Amino acid sequence: MKTILDFARARREQQPIAIVAAYDALMARLVAASPVDAILVGDSVAMVSHGFPSTVHASVELLVPHVAAVRRGAGDLFIIADLPFLATRQGLAPATAAAGALIQAGANAVKIEGVAGHEDVIAHLIGSGIPVMGHLGLTPQSVHQFGGYRIQAREPEAAAQLQAEAVRLEQLGAFALVLECVPGALAAAVTRTLTIPTIGIGAGGETSGQVLVLADLLGLNPSFQPRFARRFLAGHELVTGALTDFATSVKARTFPAAAEFIA
Ligand code: KIV
Repeated sequence: MKTILDFARARREQQPIAIVAAYDALMARLVAASPVDAILVGDSVAMVSHGFPSTVHASVELLVPHVAAVRRGAGDLFIIADLPFLATRQGLAPATAAAGALIQAGANAVKIEGVAGHEDVIAHLIGSGIPVMGHLGLTPQSVHQFGGYRIQAREPEAAAQLQAEAVRLEQLGAFALVLECVPGALAAAVTRTLTIPTIGIGAGGETSGQVLVLADLLGLNPSFQPRFARRFLAGHELVTGALTDFATSVKARTFPAAAEFIA
C-alpha cells in the first residue's frame, strides 16, 4: 500500500490488510520484500528494541530515527508512526510539531491512542493534511490507568463507549482504526458499523486486517507470548542455535575454514 486511498479500496473490496510493527531498515527491507501492506513504527519500539518496561518511554526523539531508518529500508511502502505518550495532551502546537517531525522523518500517517480529550488534535492534524489512524481498546500508553495489560471493553457499558468512540474517529476523518485486545464480537460489530478499515490485534478474526509486532511473529521473544501473537517462525530457537554454532566453531577453531580465509 502506498496511500490512504489504498486502505479505503481494501475496505471497499473486503481485501484483508496485513501490517507489522518494525523499527529498522534491515527489517523494513524484509517486510518490503513480502506481501505485507504497511509498516507501523510503533511505540512498542521502546520495549522491544530499547528494553523499557512500557511504551510510555517512547518520545518523539526516540521514534524519529526509527521512522527514518524504516523509510530507508521500506522503499515506498506505507508507514504509520505512533504519536508517543502525552504528545496529544500538551496542546495543538506540541502535537502538531510531534506529528510533523514523524512525517518529515518518512511516515505517511500517525497513529493516535484514544479519542476522548484530544478530538481537537485529531481534527487539527487531519485538517492539516496528516492522515490519522485511530487506536482503541487496550491502548498501552494508558497501562497505568488500566492497571495492567488486560482485555478491554468486556462490559456492555465499556463496549458501547468503544463503539461510540470508533464512530467518532470515523467522523473526525481517521483513515483506519486499530482495535487491540477487545472481544472478537465487539471488534466484528465495530467493523460492520464503520466504513474505514479496522486492524485487529488480539481482537478476533473479523476485523478488516491484522497487525503484529515483527519480533513477536518471528518468535524472537520467548518471554512475551500472548495467545493472539502466533509465532510464524521459531526465531528464538533458530537465532540462539546459530549463535551457539558460531561460538562453538570459534572456540574449536573450525571457523574460519580455509575457504573463508582472505589470502
Ligand atoms: O506500538 C505498537 O507496536 C502498536 C501495535 C501493537 C498496534 O501500537
